[in-house]
Amino acid sequence: MTALGIGAIIGSGIFVLTGTAAAGEHFEAPSILHAQVMDIFWNLLRQGNLHGALMHGRPAAGPAIAISFILVAIACSFAGLCYAELASMIPIAGSAYTYSYATLGEIFAWIIGWDLILEYAVSNVAVCVGFAGYLKAQLAQFGLALPERWSSPVWADGKWTGAYFNVPAFLIVMILSWLLVRGVRESAKVNNVMVAIKIAAIALFLGVGGMLVHKSNWVPFAPSGFSGVLTGGAIVFFTYIGFDSVSTAAEEAKNPQKDIPFGIIASLIVCTILYVGVALVLLGMMKYSVFGSGAAAEAPVAYALQQLGARPIWRSVIIIGALMGMLSSLLVFQYGQTRIWFAMSRDRLLPAFFSRVHKKFKTPHWSTWIAGLAVGLPSGLVDIGDAADLSNIGTLFAFVLVSIGVLVLRKTQPERPRGFKVPWVPLFPIISVILCGGLMTGLTVITWIRFFVWLALGLVIYFGFSQRHSEFASGDHTGR
Ligand code: ALA
Repeated sequence: MTALGIGAIIGSGIFVLTGTAAAGEHFEAPSILHAQVMDIFWNLLRQGNLHGALMHGRPAAGPAIAISFILVAIACSFAGLCYAELASMIPIAGSAYTYSYATLGEIFAWIIGWDLILEYAVSNVAVCVGFAGYLKAQLAQFGLALPERWSSPVWADGKWTGAYFNVPAFLIVMILSWLLVRGVRESAKVNNVMVAIKIAAIALFLGVGGMLVHKSNWVPFAPSGFSGVLTGGAIVFFTYIGFDSVSTAAEEAKNPQKDIPFGIIASLIVCTILYVGVALVLLGMMKYSVFGSGAAAEAPVAYALQQLGARPIWRSVIIIGALMGMLSSLLVFQYGQTRIWFAMSRDRLLPAFFSRVHKKFKTPHWSTWIAGLAVGLPSGLVDIGDAADLSNIGTLFAFVLVSIGVLVLRKTQPERPRGFKVPWVPLFPIISVILCGGLMTGLTVITWIRFFVWLALGLVIYFGFSQRHSEFASGDHTGR
């Protein structure tokens, strides 16, 4: 279970966002769109106006991003326990969508299912962009420089970059979709191998990079104080997305009450140790401010190793290991997305072709190709930061809903058997809501606007299509 968690958790986030979150972001033109929601609250509370709010972008976390990693892992643990309780209430494998459909009803399930697209598809957009950045860096090392305009985001840092399309980011997810249609899945064994490769790549980086650390780069440790740590946390939350997958294995656990929380907490602990290590080493190798833009922002680990003259063989082993890890995480999330759509379509909340199965391969080929394009096309256009922010807010919102769901179900269905029970209810779910909600406020106004537009679009589709078509349009679907 721990391996399952780590397999999903470690993708490209740690290899990209650590640098950008530490460096912060600075826009020339001030705009409320770039301000953090938390900062706006504070300023309104303290002085009744927005004069003190940071409108130029996010404050730099600096090396203190290492602390953000620890705080975020704590928030994730509480949310993970709530997720596990919900998962253990119904005896089938699935996502938060499946559990909420069975326990909380259709509209709630729809909102979660729609929101989960941000967790699965949009996070994969970010991972694809990260993958492309490292692939480019590695190919360049082999003497094969990809044309910039065909291998970079078209829109980044709030402006057009002059690039045409990020072809490698698009291609990688199309290739994976093709494999998924043909029925390729990660078995538990392959997952274990991938986990070993990911951990080995990170451990090797810690060793090689550790020798290139200059302690002076750790000073100042927290250039923007707590505000930097919070914003940094809201960004690097992305690196933990996927730990909830442990709860989907509830039915396979021998002793869910023990195994599920163990799997969640253990995978979070292992990842936190690795992440804190990467943060300290990377930000000890070069000054945090270096990682704000260009190649240093796109593939910071590759950049730092190259700039400081690490041996090419080590560089290549680390980067190829990281790339393989990203592939496995991409595969798991693409698979997860298609299965959520499959379930939603079976419940008739989405059109029937989403659950149509390929004659020969017996896979939901329509869902798979649609997910491929839904991830591939934006991957060709946007940068990792925008995609990760949107994915973060969506996933955090799903965790808030799941935690509230646990509280509600304890009241409305107290008798229903639960393979796993969150300890200290209502305290733990409430802490989860506060921590996840708190991290959401570390994101910027523009991310919140995008998120509301996304939810509004979902509700329009629900009331325009799904509600009328759903299998239980006129009945009671709780307790299904
Ligand atoms: N947690 C995954 C990553 O870091 C999404 O890439």
